[in-house]
Amino acid sequence: MSVVHAQVLEALRGVADPQLHLDLVELGLVRRVEISGSRVEVVVGQLVPESPVDELQRRVRAALAGLDGVDQVDVEPVLMSDQERDELAQRLDASRSGSISFTAPGARTRVLLVASGKGGVGKSSVTVNLAIALAQRGRRVCVVDADVWGFSVPAMLGIDRPPIVLGNRILLPPRAYGVECASIGFFVREDQPVIWRGPMLHKALEQFLTDFWWGEPDFVVVDLPPGTGDISLSLASFLPRAEAYVVTTPQPAAQRVAQRAGLMFQSSQISIPVHGVIENMSWFTGDDGKRYELFGHGGGEALAERLQVPLVGQVPFVPALREGGDAGLPVVVARPGSEPAAAFSSMAERIDEELAPTRRDHPALRVV
Ligand SMILES: Nc1ncnc2c1ncn2[C@@H]1O[C@H](COP(=O)(O)OP(=O)(O)OP(=O)(O)O)[C@@H](O)[C@H]1O
Ligand SMILES: [Mg+2]
Repeated sequence: MSVVHAQVLEALRGVADPQLHLDLVELGLVRRVEISGSRVEVVVGQLVPESPVDELQRRVRAALAGLDGVDQVDVEPVLMSDQERDELAQRLDASRSGSISFTAPGARTRVLLVASGKGGVGKSSVTVNLAIALAQRGRRVCVVDADVWGFSVPAMLGIDRPPIVLGNRILLPPRAYGVECASIGFFVREDQPVIWRGPMLHKALEQFLTDFWWGEPDFVVVDLPPGTGDISLSLASFLPRAEAYVVTTPQPAAQRVAQRAGLMFQSSQISIPVHGVIENMSWFTGDDGKRYELFGHGGGEALAERLQVPLVGQVPFVPALREGGDAGLPVVVARPGSEPAAAFSSMAERIDEELAPTRRDHPALRVV
């Protein structure tokens, strides 16, 4: 029996656009469906030239392949005109009511703040690798680089494109290694100092978070600047449902500084739960196979005890990790079976299993 038009449309309602994360029918992106015998041809609106067309085609094919009587699916993307794009952007913009989509009450997104009172302990490296490791588990993950003065996440992810702007209203985060990335660095010239302070900084961060089109990812991993300053305080007010992870090295002196961030989150004014401590640069494995504790011992455990949270992972010191960061090829991608990659994967597994079951059911986002 041949498949009917209505069945195809129904199946397409289950297909999310890879950039807008809403279904193709609701977005008005299904332009034409033609059925001849067991062959279905679907013409789909392509948002921008950079859109991930392969992924869109894969999703449509996967959804239609399951229908009885369908043997062949052809998906033809057609680039939207400027006017079509503007109209869609206007509709999307009107639907989001000026708030950050993943913080809406009932949103299932888990927001992880990666923080430390101390600089240079590996917050950004942890953020990037942990985010990719979560994406490798099949989660949709966004990374937010909130380090206004020392943004480093796009470079670590090898992203050198700015976000795509849809109809002058909506920013689509660039994507690398399966994660989407929004960095405050996209809006700041590298050769100019950033002099936002207090209220201006607060406003800029808020604008930055609301202008991006996030949908409702499974995880948003936020890279914070070192310390306990204005940015952390502002983010805590925008992202009240977040949970924090504190990064430290094994050195007792580093741990004492790192803990300030943890204590700030746990304070009654901020009240963001700390879910764990991540110890970075824990040891170096020599050619002789022995572990050398280059940066001392016990900082992660001591901090976990002080904050009364678990030590969720230890990442060894490996030159390849820095090289990967500099080259825009994170270690979990460049060397998947290596010691640090395994540490990030098991951390991701632990975090995913711990946080995923408590997700709340949520109403699907709707475009008005
Ligand atoms: N486990 C590791 N092994 C080797 N090098 C590492 C490791 N972790 C981080 N690094 C390197 O140490 C430097 C600092 O790391 P990173 O930028 O991630 O720290 P940070 O805490 O985000 O720093 P900042 O406070 O400046 O934001 C980088 O050059 C990074 O590549
Ligand atoms: Mg950093």
